[in-house]
Amino acid sequence: THSIIFDTDPGVDDAQAIAIALRHPEIELLGMTTTYGNVDVEVATKNALLLAQLAGRGEVPVAQGAAAPMVKARHAPPAHIHGANGLGDIALPEVQGKADPRSAAQFIVDTVNARPGEVTLVAVGPVGNLAAALQLDPGIIDRVKGVVIMGGSIREGGNVTPVAEANMFNDPDAASRVLTAGWPLTLVGLDVTHRCVLTPAHMARIEAGQGELGKVLAGSYAFYRDFYHEFLGIDGCCPHDSCALAWLLRPELFTTARGHLTVATEGDAEGQTIFAPEGRGFIEARWSRTPVVEVCLKVDGEAVSDWIADVL
Ligand code: BDR
Ligand code: CA
Repeated sequence: THSIIFDTDPGVDDAQAIAIALRHPEIELLGMTTTYGNVDVEVATKNALLLAQLAGRGEVPVAQGAAAPMVKARHAPPAHIHGANGLGDIALPEVQGKADPRSAAQFIVDTVNARPGEVTLVAVGPVGNLAAALQLDPGIIDRVKGVVIMGGSIREGGNVTPVAEANMFNDPDAASRVLTAGWPLTLVGLDVTHRCVLTPAHMARIEAGQGELGKVLAGSYAFYRDFYHEFLGIDGCCPHDSCALAWLLRPELFTTARGHLTVATEGDAEGQTIFAPEGRGFIEARWSRTPVVEVCLKVDGEAVSDWIADVL
């Protein structure tokens, strides 16, 4: 079993991943922490509470976090991709639960310290909450079991600028601190998420199997699908955030490499992840100022997409 905190900005593909985190028998979801990104943080919190409620998991704590990037000005939420309400602008049921009184960062620190060596942080939005948790208590670096981040792009190019992926671009300063903190970290970026396509047939199965929650997943998917048709010419959508959980539960479907990872925080390259593989002689020598992490480079995209539909 994987005991995780899921840090998220729901978001259509976040919602799919949250459903997996709530449903998968081998995941113990200790809580969700929310951030600005696809939507304002208040909307993200509402959506996280709603998704837990629809899954009959209203007991899962949701702690609200970053409302803006750590240093830079905030980018407007991409309403054309996720809808103004983050869930494809479909009508949503009323939210009953309330957020945890703690900040996301405090929740992360408390939870990791209560169970040293056992908690995996899975972050699928801008990573300001993880950076804030590091600031509160750098000791968590040695106490987490692992950190999995959906974000970045090693060879694939960006999805917001020619070089930057959205979660990195939305808070590059936080990303820089989090990726170079020296904890056991895996980056699940566009190199693999763009190879996965959740098709209408997958979604029909998910809708049929998930009751009230299925309606929200399918309704928001319909909106998101239009964007992917335009952007990548595919019929379906990239389930970015679910790939982070697929990596955790089905690592054999991925090919990874180890090396030094940095994020550009200024200029045209802002939000670009830069990777220097281990063992590349002089390049590694020049770039070895940051700790070694793991990045995903390849994936069996069909198997991951089928896995998502199977779980749900
Ligand atoms: C990432 O950006 C967000 O829009 C998605 O939810 C995902 O986390 C993909 O670049
Ligand atoms: Ca996300």
